[in-house]
Amino acid sequence: MKEYQVALLGFGTVGSGVYRIISENGAQISHREGISLSVRKILIKDFEHEPNLALAPRELFSTSFDEVVSDPSIDIVVECMGGIEPARTFIIKALDAGKTVVTSNKEVMSKNWPAFEKAAKATGAGLYLEATVGGGIPIIRTILDSMQANNITRVMGIINGTTNYILTQMTENGQSFEDALKDAQALGYAEANPTADVEGFDAMYKLSILSSMSFHAHMPIEVIYREGITKLTKSDFETAQLLNYRIKLLAIGKKEGNRIEVRVHPTMIPDTHPLASVRGVFNAIFLTGHAVDDVMLYGRGAGCMPTASAVVSDIIYACHHDKAHKYMTFVNEESMSGDIELVKDFSCIYCIRLHVADKPGTMAAIAGAFADHGVSLKSVIQLGENDGVSSRITFLTHMASEFGVNEALKQIEKLDCVNEVESVIRVEE
Ligand code: HSE
Repeated sequence: MKEYQVALLGFGTVGSGVYRIISENGAQISHREGISLSVRKILIKDFEHEPNLALAPRELFSTSFDEVVSDPSIDIVVECMGGIEPARTFIIKALDAGKTVVTSNKEVMSKNWPAFEKAAKATGAGLYLEATVGGGIPIIRTILDSMQANNITRVMGIINGTTNYILTQMTENGQSFEDALKDAQALGYAEANPTADVEGFDAMYKLSILSSMSFHAHMPIEVIYREGITKLTKSDFETAQLLNYRIKLLAIGKKEGNRIEVRVHPTMIPDTHPLASVRGVFNAIFLTGHAVDDVMLYGRGAGCMPTASAVVSDIIYACHHDKAHKYMTFVNEESMSGDIELVKDFSCIYCIRLHVADKPGTMAAIAGAFADHGVSLKSVIQLGENDGVSSRITFLTHMASEFGVNEALKQIEKLDCVNEVESVIRVEE
């Protein structure tokens, strides 16, 4: 039975989970897979501040990356440190040394994809990233190994558990964003600095990877439209409820011919949509292939054991592919991005709530501004309190262009009869 030696870079939530699975389940894995896995080295920053030292034998720990990368017995380097540096440098050096890399780090992967791909190809090392998107959900392997027969036309998902927890609290308990965030922090679902999650950066990194894999074209983070959940108010959730919608932070990629759009933003979806029932910290990803039609995967998008499950799956996959075809999971060629047209002026349905003067002519002026920019209205609803002086009007558009809606809103904001554009939320039916 072939033995494979693994080095872990980082021994936090993910690294310690990987160690635990290999230690506790190694015999079963050997029996089923015909390979033997062992952790040979664990890279930590320093011994004094390492909280998980008691979880593995002392002799496995090292503070020297050079010791790890120059050890010829190490076959696979698992990067689970997070952040950009030193993760980026360590990944490049490991690939340069011909060692296969498995990473759970979505930020470093999405920001350095071309450099990593070049380094991997130069030495023939493998590079695997199942754990970067959707935690324990086997989404990358599904796209690459199970949906190869398809042209994927749409990928749409809830890929950030922290924001899904917050949005679930706001929907079901009527909490404000601030209160729901505090609860998420108290439960350990949100970081002390929650920016990466609540402003949509984490989902953007993951969508970059997901859409690149799905559409076989490099989708750097710079081309992704991003909007977080921090501006959502209780009124938005009341409006959504009245319209039978749920508000979710969706990551959306669509491909039609050679035209691709990629975006992350709060989205209203019908409460009958399968993604609407994804509650709390759970993630789910909805794929559409031209042959298979719709597929949805659901599971835990973060956490020690779910993420480690994906990492160990990649380690096993790497062991089975150590002789040839190392790029089976990493096939995006730069040349494949050549013909792609990135659509910035995408089309959507929009739910727009205005605070307006309640007087004759208001509706006509607003409808006129929408018409001036080619935005067709589907329905108009006067919701909430009406004090006889001002009122709130919610407009649902037909499919309309993003640029057209933005221009119409600029004009509407200037109207005397409009006090405020209170909210603009895109809708996916
Ligand atoms: N913070 C992320 C989430 C998990 O809430 O889903 C790691 O990407």
